Amino acid sequence: MTNAKFFDESSDQSQVKSAIVTKYFWAWARVIIGAQNHLTENADKRIAYIDLFAGPGRYKDGTTSTPLLILKKAIEDADMRQRLITVFNDKDEKNTKPLSEAINQLSGVNRLKHKPQIYTQEVGENIIKMFEKMKLIPTLFFVDPWGYKGLSLRLVNSVLKDWGCDCIFFFNYNRINMGLNNEAV
Ligand SMILES: C[S@@+](CC[C@H](N)C(=O)[O-])C[C@H]1O[C@@H](n2cnc3c(N)ncnc32)[C@H](O)[C@@H]1O
Repeated sequence: MTNAKFFDESSDQSQVKSAIVTKYFWAWARVIIGAQNHLTENADKRIAYIDLFAGPGRYKDGTTSTPLLILKKAIEDADMRQRLITVFNDKDEKNTKPLSEAINQLSGVNRLKHKPQIYTQEVGENIIKMFEKMKLIPTLFFVDPWGYKGLSLRLVNSVLKDWGCDCIFFFNYNRINMGLNNEAV
């Protein structure tokens, strides 16, 4: 499937990917929240979910994708509504605009204490430098670029350095295989 057609319809693989990330988010969040509940009353008890390659949020066939699945479940949970900070980014405004619209239309989205943040930036050196300098609250990062461009060890390390941070990356080795015989790659 070409990149241009990726969002035309949700493939079985895409649905499995979204299910894995959504389930893992809750398993991870339960562990972190359990630890935070032992902290003093005034301690920072926020957690974050950051998706730097978020896409438009829905496939063209209307199927809900990962960003909206995460938010929908968070809206249903009273504790999560207070704690969760969400950041979604994509390099393409053709994705962030529909994503922003879909998020605004989510039933109950205004009940989230922290409004979802949406950015349109190409992930590269600048974003990595920014994360390297930041002290992060416990954050689950989802890194799901097309192919392998944008996915680097430095990016993964820059987001894993602080307590409670975790990262799921989708590594499309088909793209590596395609490039193996290509001198330019
Ligand atoms: C596989 S799709 C993401 C699908 C999404 N994670 C989901 O579950 O619905 C990859 C997205 O990454 C974006 N992208 C690719 N390279 C990027 C980069 N360097 N910086 C920011 N976004 C990028 C593309 O525009 C595309 O929307």
